[in-house]
Amino acid sequence: MFVQTIYQSKSRMRIKPNDLLEITAQSLPNNVEHGITSYLYYDDWNYLHIIEGRAAKVAEAMKHIAFDKRHHSLKVRLMTRCSKRNFEDWPFGVVAAEDFEVRRIVRNLGYSDLLQANILDVVKALKRTAGRKYRTMSALEKRAIYDVDAVDIPKPKLNLTEDVLGLRSQ
Ligand SMILES: Cc1cc2nc3c(=O)[nH]c(=O)nc-3n(C[C@H](O)[C@H](O)[C@H](O)COP(=O)(O)O)c2cc1C
Repeated sequence: MFVQTIYQSKSRMRIKPNDLLEITAQSLPNNVEHGITSYLYYDDWNYLHIIEGRAAKVAEAMKHIAFDKRHHSLKVRLMTRCSKRNFEDWPFGVVAAEDFEVRRIVRNLGYSDLLQANILDVVKALKRTAGRKYRTMSALEKRAIYDVDAVDIPKPKLNLTEDVLGLRSQ
C-alpha cells in the first residue's frame, strides 16, 4: 500500500527554469533513494506537487519540503492511500504549465488553469502528461531518470531538459 500526497504552494520568487534544475538536482537522488515517485507542475508563481511512496517516506519528504524557504503557503490538497502508483516512471518529473501538451490536456478537461481544477482532474491531467512524456523518451533517457549519477542535469548528451523533465531550455 502506498500513500499519495498532493500539495500546492506559492513560490517566493517568480519561478525560472533554473530554479527547477536546482530543485530537481536535490530531489531526484533523494526520491530514488527513498522509493518516492513524484510529479511537479509549476507556473510563474505556484507549485503543485504529487508525491507517492511508502507512508513514512512520503511523510519524511514532506517535512523537508514544508520547511523549504523557496515556497510558502503550502496547502495539502489530497492525502490518500493507493494500491498502485500513478507516476511510477517518475522519481521526479517536472512539467511547466506553459508546456503545449499540458495546456492542451488541461483545456480538453474544460479548465483554463489547472490550479483551479478539481483535484481528481488535476491527477488525471498530470497522469496523461506524464504518460505522454514517458512514451516519447528514449531508452537511454528512461534509464537516466533512475540513474543517480545522471543528476548533473544539464548534461547535453542525456537531454534532461525539455523531454525528460518538461523544462524548456534557456
Ligand atoms: C517545490 C519543491 C519541491 C520539492 N520536492 C522535493 C522532493 O520531491 N524530494 C526531495 O527530497 N526534496 C524536494 N524538495 C527539496 C526539499 O525541500 C529540500 O531542499 C531537500 O530535500 C534537501 O533537504 P535538506 O536540505 O533538509 O537536506 C523540493 C523543494 C521545493 C521548493
